[in-house]
Amino acid sequence: MSWYERVWRPWLFRLPADQAHELGKLAFRLRAPWSLLGAAARRDYLALHTELAGIKLASPVGLAAGFDKSADLVGGLSRLGFGYITVGSITRLPRAGNAKPRLGRIPEDQALVNAMGLPNSGLEASIRSLRHLRGVPIPIFVSVAGFNVDELSEAAAAVEPYADAVEIGLICPNTSAEEQLEEIDLFDRLLRRLTSQRSKPLFVKLPSYTSPESRTHVFAMVDMCIERGLEAVCVSASQRLKTSAIAVGEGSLTGRPTFAASVEHVREVAAHARGQIATIGAGGVFTGSDAYQMLCAGATTVELYSSFIYRGWSVAGAIKRELDAELRAAAMASVQDARPQLVRPSSIAL
Ligand SMILES: Cc1cc2nc3c(=O)[nH]c(=O)nc-3n(C[C@H](O)[C@H](O)[C@H](O)COP(=O)(O)O)c2cc1C
Repeated sequence: MSWYERVWRPWLFRLPADQAHELGKLAFRLRAPWSLLGAAARRDYLALHTELAGIKLASPVGLAAGFDKSADLVGGLSRLGFGYITVGSITRLPRAGNAKPRLGRIPEDQALVNAMGLPNSGLEASIRSLRHLRGVPIPIFVSVAGFNVDELSEAAAAVEPYADAVEIGLICPNTSAEEQLEEIDLFDRLLRRLTSQRSKPLFVKLPSYTSPESRTHVFAMVDMCIERGLEAVCVSASQRLKTSAIAVGEGSLTGRPTFAASVEHVREVAAHARGQIATIGAGGVFTGSDAYQMLCAGATTVELYSSFIYRGWSVAGAIKRELDAELRAAAMASVQDARPQLVRPSSIAL
């Protein structure tokens, strides 16, 4: 057990989750303490060196979008041994988000439930923060979200100069088959617009799927991403959960309970894509063994949020150490060896 798990977590978990989250954010605004506290977590493992979309990473373990929503915590977070950080999701205008409580914990399941409602400082303030970043030792990906094609493409273009890659966070409240068809049209329009203006790697965070129909829909989106030359899709299986713990009565369940389905999603999407686009796996990654399973399922990188809350600031260091041990136990020299050989269609002998 780490120092955080023994001392800090019990104390923080006595506070309402929203309040603990605000405290955490305050702490990560500082850089100096994390340069010291994160020193062990920054240990470098040669076997974990990898690449995503041509971007060199010291490890495939990243921090997922949502923790640093407005890019103002990079100073502290970038000292914790993550291979990269995804900041955002940033929207064109500032958003207050949903009423609190909007974040809850389910400690017995190592899970979180949230209905944050995309609170963030908006494009202008976030770009100010991004512009002032100096000496950040790891790649920064920026997630943008929006409610229509114009908003999303404006946000993507505005953050691109300050990002190593841009991730598009889709808001997909529609569920009926008819609306999904419309969504596909809209998605295609969005990709056309984004790819006509971009000069950096572009990723899409796919919606989760729960039925054969929604899986077909997501696969169609993957095909479009491939067709339009995007570099990666981010895949996870967060679920909807009705709960009185948060004000709006329903939120996204993340963390441990979503791991098995997330690995399956990664396996299916990576097999469908056959190496034509990279897959980023998220959802319940807590240990090196979890990360290893995601990579074996076809992920190029894994990213996490919930385990950061449960395992604390040393989580990336712990997962890297555990993943390195997993690779050694499997007699693999590098993370590349863990990934399945996915055959590109052009290399299939006819
Ligand atoms: C409190 C909270 C806020 C989040 N906010 C965002 C967000 O703004 N944009 C986004 O793309 N994903 C967001 N996510 C989803 C995470 O990026 C990640 O995909 C998800 O939590 C699954 O990983 P995990 O099981 O390791 O938490 C959020 C997740 C949580 C728990």
